[in-house]
Amino acid sequence: MASEGKPASFEGKVALVTGAARGIGKEIALTLARRGATVVIGDIDVDGAIKVAEELKGEGLLADAIGLDMGNVADIRAKVGEVYRRHGQIDILVNNAGICPTTPIEEIQEEEWDKVLDVNLKGVFFLCQAVMPKMKERRYGKIINTSSVEGRRGALVAG
Ligand SMILES: NC(=O)c1ccc[n+]([C@@H]2O[C@H](COP(=O)([O-])OP(=O)(O)OC[C@H]3O[C@@H](n4cnc5c(N)ncnc54)[C@H](O)[C@@H]3O)[C@@H](O)[C@H]2O)c1
Repeated sequence: MASEGKPASFEGKVALVTGAARGIGKEIALTLARRGATVVIGDIDVDGAIKVAEELKGEGLLADAIGLDMGNVADIRAKVGEVYRRHGQIDILVNNAGICPTTPIEEIQEEEWDKVLDVNLKGVFFLCQAVMPKMKERRYGKIINTSSVEGRRGALVAG
């Protein structure tokens, strides 16, 4: 926890941020790295992830990139193993990657339904599961899951 008026330091911590090749995830990664963490940019857009990691390193920050498909449990498990091999630990997991198609209810196909649940729900569960054993062993770990108001109510799409 940050003491009053002083931002928290993440020095010595390793943070895996999913969906950090752009948008909110990128900003989270930047903030953690600027406060001392080694940040692993995990994204299905591997080129984007590498670009962000390079940007961070250009600022003198500690960063790495890894291709990660949150819609594929085998890939999640393999990439968590790879992060442990490269960095030894994961102290902070930010489950930020998510997809939010705006297809009208009447037109949603089973494939799209499955993809949304795979990436936004199943992948998050199995990524948490993959990092938990070492967090429990070390008695330290922070997991932050991004949600959305879209989980509480439908979106109104013009058209
Ligand atoms: N932007 C908003 O207003 C808003 C509002 C509520 C919730 N959210 C949620 O916040 C998160 C980030 O939002 P954003 O606007 O920055 O999103 P974004 O679409 O700009 O970025 C999402 C990132 O996730 C990556 N990604 C997509 N599928 C992936 C997969 N299968 N595996 C790994 N990475 C994958 C993309 O490549 C991209 O880099 C999302 O989960 C989103 O649903 C955003």
